Amino acid sequence: MANPFYSGTVAVIGLGYIGLPTAVVLASRGVRVIGVDLNPVTVERVGRGEIPFFEPDLATSLSGAVALGNISATMETPVADAYIIAVPTPITPDEQADMSAVFAAAAALAPQLRPGAIVVLESTSPPGTTEELSRTLAAARPDLTFPDDVNDSPDIYIAHCPERVLPGRLMVELVENNRVIGGLTPECAERAAEIYRVFCRGEIQLSDATSAEMAKLAENSYRDVNIAYANELSMICDKLGLDVWEIVKMANHHPRVNILQPGPGVGGHCIAVDPWFLVGVAPEEAVLIRTARMVNDGKPLHVVQQIRKSAGRFREPVVACLGLSYKANVDDIRESPAVEIVAALAEQEPATTILVSDPMLSRLPASLASFPNLTLVKTQDAIAAADIVALLVDHNQFRTLSRKLLEGKVVLDTRGIWR
Ligand SMILES: NC(=O)c1ccc[n+]([C@@H]2O[C@H](COP(=O)([O-])OP(=O)(O)OC[C@H]3O[C@@H](n4cnc5c(N)ncnc54)[C@H](O)[C@@H]3O)[C@@H](O)[C@H]2O)c1
Repeated sequence: MANPFYSGTVAVIGLGYIGLPTAVVLASRGVRVIGVDLNPVTVERVGRGEIPFFEPDLATSLSGAVALGNISATMETPVADAYIIAVPTPITPDEQADMSAVFAAAAALAPQLRPGAIVVLESTSPPGTTEELSRTLAAARPDLTFPDDVNDSPDIYIAHCPERVLPGRLMVELVENNRVIGGLTPECAERAAEIYRVFCRGEIQLSDATSAEMAKLAENSYRDVNIAYANELSMICDKLGLDVWEIVKMANHHPRVNILQPGPGVGGHCIAVDPWFLVGVAPEEAVLIRTARMVNDGKPLHVVQQIRKSAGRFREPVVACLGLSYKANVDDIRESPAVEIVAALAEQEPATTILVSDPMLSRLPASLASFPNLTLVKTQDAIAAADIVALLVDHNQFRTLSRKLLEGKVVLDTRGIWR
């Protein structure tokens, strides 16, 4: 049955952690969805109703949507009534926003645009990107009118709708979270909102595109700055021989203080990346934001130094590193501080045996596979053989480990879960 809110066809470009769940929630509510991805394996798997990565409840929703006949996958951008662009926006090695995937997606969809089409940029982007996207599409399609040319009723409607879901709870948060939709004109925002009303039960706040881009970056930079404060405190406490977890707990008894929990660093595709977009557009003003990034980026090396200091006490040290993903209970290792810690340790301590364990991963990431002193083993085996146990990710399986297994080991708990 067609959806009563939106009856058009939606092409979702980029079938990753954001695009695929979005495609699936739309399709399972009766919208005809065509998923587009450059990766042939992803396209093949999604077409068969198989998830290309783990996310709770995604597998059942995808196979349901495929069974309904509402979703298909292709490598070629089709003609559609609406396009949602959810491709990666990483940073380059010199910390600049890499928007090449967004503009490659735009180049592929430009020839398919028909009057009345809606283009929504979901990828997290520096302020001004949606306007640039519109200019790029306009240059490719001089036969069509765009929001820049005519304020009312252009041929193509363009908006930015940033995503704020939490991996591990994607399928719930996609539906429940509030959304910001920024249009290049108010009508663009309203047209885009029609698509999101299909599945979004949260409040949909309409705005302009550049403010929506800025709001998303403000959210993630806020998180980064606050985590940096906790991480900096943890390094000060390490220097003074104090228990940071105890200090944070006491400080948080103040009615107006809420310090976050420190960790081994900040990873993932968002918080570790997006603040750089603000530094890029306002390098002189974004002093605190840049500093916070550097504090969080420095934390993995601090952890490496702590492990090496402990390893120095053993003749042939064996270190168990528990967890590789960038956060608990996901298999996503992008920008993971745990991977950085393990790689630096393997490189700096070639004589140390490093046993890695992560229940979410079945093999070592390529960046770790070639170290001769590093092996992926079962958690119990890693701990049993280790002199030092470094807890890097707070997966549920690690939280519930019997503390007896840790007796007699040097324990470095970067997440504070075994206190
Ligand atoms: N993952 C998150 O938790 C999260 C949360 C909020 C916002 N975001 C933002 O959403 C965007 C997408 O992130 P993601 O985590 O889904 O990325 P991802 O890497 O998981 O998926 C992106 C997909 O896009 C495909 N792709 C790349 N270029 C393409 C192109 N030109 N045409 C078609 N497909 C292409 C890739 O093959 C991949 O499958 C990013 O801007 C990210 O910052 C992500």
